Amino acid sequence: MSFNTFGHLFRVTTFGESHGPAIGCVVDGCPPGIPLTAVDIQHFLDKRRPGQSRFTTQRQEPDAVSILSGVFSDDRTGGQVTTGTPIMLMIENVDQRSKDYSAIRDLYRPGHADYTYDVKYGVRDYRGGGRSSARETACRVAAGAVARKIVPGMAVRAALVQMGPHKIDRRRWDWDEIDRNPFFCPDREAAAQWEPYLDGIRKAGSSIGAVIEVVAEGVPAGLGAPVYGKLDADLAAAFMSINAVKGVEIGAGFTAAELSGEENADEMRMGNDGKPLFLSNQAGGILGGISTGQPLVARFAVKPTSSILTPRRSIDRYGHEADIQTKGRHDPCVGIRGVPVGEAMMACVVADHYLRQRGQVGESAAWPFPAPDAR
Ligand SMILES: Cc1cc2nc3c(=O)[nH]c(=O)nc-3n(C[C@H](O)[C@H](O)[C@H](O)COP(=O)(O)O)c2cc1C
Repeated sequence: MSFNTFGHLFRVTTFGESHGPAIGCVVDGCPPGIPLTAVDIQHFLDKRRPGQSRFTTQRQEPDAVSILSGVFSDDRTGGQVTTGTPIMLMIENVDQRSKDYSAIRDLYRPGHADYTYDVKYGVRDYRGGGRSSARETACRVAAGAVARKIVPGMAVRAALVQMGPHKIDRRRWDWDEIDRNPFFCPDREAAAQWEPYLDGIRKAGSSIGAVIEVVAEGVPAGLGAPVYGKLDADLAAAFMSINAVKGVEIGAGFTAAELSGEENADEMRMGNDGKPLFLSNQAGGILGGISTGQPLVARFAVKPTSSILTPRRSIDRYGHEADIQTKGRHDPCVGIRGVPVGEAMMACVVADHYLRQRGQVGESAAWPFPAPDAR
């Protein structure tokens, strides 16, 4: 059984390899009548695109998306809208340099998927990692751009909150900063310190890990399908499916283990808008696998790039020991370009659960319920 598809009602299937002619995805289950043009999608792809600073791979891919199906010009508005049929999105690969990989065609990069793909399939596209390459994540970003349009009022943003051992100061968090530095960092001072730090890593031919925080605001209460389709479980699976991700936290995450019951449980009051007002958000917006209406907050840890210039001990596919040095163009900190990918996965999961909620429950319950004495 092969798993190149995720989601239930908002269903995304991706295809393509790093050095093949093209990559892309089919988004099935998108409701009809949603305005959608390539420009809407391109905006998000441009954030993930390689070669935009010295801190990401120098592979020059325009990542220009074409919509091949699933849209039509609306007679009434003249604008292009989704038709409810499968939306196929395609991105051509234009800057492959497969010869960079010929020296390692039979060798396994420690920390990469070379050995596991070989041992599983017996055949491996060594050019840029083939299907294991994070080139595939461009398709997720394209699908995420569609997903964002499905949940009314939802805003999904993400930021790099830690690079190697260097964390941001959360008191300086400013969302406007993330577009002003090459790291999607919300803390201007931290970003300034990361520049020389990552330059040093890059020049040494090494790499470093990172932590990304993703926040979804405007998510209605009631999304999530307990007990085996919990919203937090689906988010964890979605983030964990991103290349190089080794850990996921929701809300307080691992810190919850250090908290007391008083510190951890989010107390409730009534807000002026007639909705519950949570006095904190340790839960990350999810209780019992169901959204509370608070922002969804998740973090994921990304390991350091495994393709590095430093020679490493390894073996080849014929069982011989050999040393390996990976040349070619690689991100010194893959976490940076993981930021838009994290946003996309959040948007896809929430869109899927939004449609599932509509399918099973229709309108959410009219909360608050009439008190017994008022009935
Ligand atoms: C945006 C992004 C870019 C990446 N670029 C590279 C890269 O240039 N070189 C590399 O060795 N790994 C890169 N990776 C990580 C590999 O794709 C990943 O480590 C590999 O597929 C093995 O899978 P795993 O780390 O999830 O076990 C990147 C990951 C992401 C999210």
